[in-house]
Amino acid sequence: MFEQLKTLPADPILGLNQTFQQDANPDKINLSVGVYQNAKGATPIFTAVKSAEQQLLEAQTTKAYAPQAGDPAFLKHITALMLGDELVESLGERVATVMTPGGCGALRMTAELLVQSREKATVWVSSPTWANHFPLLQSAGLTLKTYDYYSAETRGVDFSAMLESIGAIPKGDIVLLHGCCHNPTGADLTQDQWDSLIDLMQERELIPFIDVAYQGFGDGLEQDAYGLRLAAKKLPTVLVASSCSKNFGVYRERTGAAIVITNSAEQTAAAKSHILSAARRCYSMSPSHGGAVVGHLLASPELTLEWKEELEFVRKRMNKLRLDLAEGLNQAQNKIDFGFVAESKGMFCYLGIPQQDVLTLRSEFAIYLLESTRINVAGLSEQNLPIIIERVADVITRS
Ligand SMILES: Cc1ncc(COP(=O)(O)O)c(C=O)c1O
Repeated sequence: MFEQLKTLPADPILGLNQTFQQDANPDKINLSVGVYQNAKGATPIFTAVKSAEQQLLEAQTTKAYAPQAGDPAFLKHITALMLGDELVESLGERVATVMTPGGCGALRMTAELLVQSREKATVWVSSPTWANHFPLLQSAGLTLKTYDYYSAETRGVDFSAMLESIGAIPKGDIVLLHGCCHNPTGADLTQDQWDSLIDLMQERELIPFIDVAYQGFGDGLEQDAYGLRLAAKKLPTVLVASSCSKNFGVYRERTGAAIVITNSAEQTAAAKSHILSAARRCYSMSPSHGGAVVGHLLASPELTLEWKEELEFVRKRMNKLRLDLAEGLNQAQNKIDFGFVAESKGMFCYLGIPQQDVLTLRSEFAIYLLESTRINVAGLSEQNLPIIIERVADVITRS
């Protein structure tokens, strides 16, 4: 049956992680994979999540199928977390949420919806964007094109190029935006930039498809939802793919949500039915556990408070590591000004070093980052930071 199939190369990010696992160097450091790690290099379970899980397991009396759209508490609270209570209230039945297997599931189910409503739909993604956007969306049948976003020269968003590029997108096309903590660059829009962008999208009748995988990792839960909420207030149609993997630390539970906003309750109901139908065709029902845990947590004011404090700790710790890396690198060498590292948001940023240096770091020092120079800031720790600074500076100075 499969004689003619050739084994595919591993996914670039997961493949590098495998190479890291097989590396026998005891001092190896992994800055490539997108998972939060604490000072000990572990990815802990949030205490509030663990408590919610325990309470839930205690109370659970059945493993029968949950509702297809997802746990009702999850749907209600995740929508409110993303959009804010006021907006949810004013949107009424113009907004609908479906639970999905992770943010990837939300991206893919929304892609299925788009293909159902417009066979030749085009989605524009930032250059660069998270590598998995391409296979996830293209394999549903969407055409992907890129808009200008990042300037390697200024090591930040090239906002005028972005506006020019988005301004030239044909009316009615879909524009995928990172709600916050841009993956892979860590270069985010300011609130003023969001204001201008949403005005332009309104004028050009473009449809935002907002991927929010790091809410709470950038400037805070509310601040990170600024662009999303603005779009939802001003534009008739907004699509959202939300992931709970990082901010609730429930990576393996595959917990996410597809949120659809349209300008009428009828259109929203129709769109929701197409997402559910796509889910039925692909996997029928989402896993229930992660959504039930997040729903239970968010329904409890005490657990929510505890989770917010834990999330705040994670965010502040990552910001401190980012700042220490920038300052340390600037002290240790004078070829590149790494000030931009301190300003980037979330879990990732580009180091912006020559590609050859990335390979040297890997072969000589077993420090793993992606060839794009993307690093996971959460892979840094108070312990490994001095070594990383010394070795990165050494490699840059030599090259
Ligand atoms: C930009 C972006 N979108 C979506 C996701 C989806 O995450 P998951 O499917 O694990 O929830 C990720 C995860 O790394 C991401 O970085």
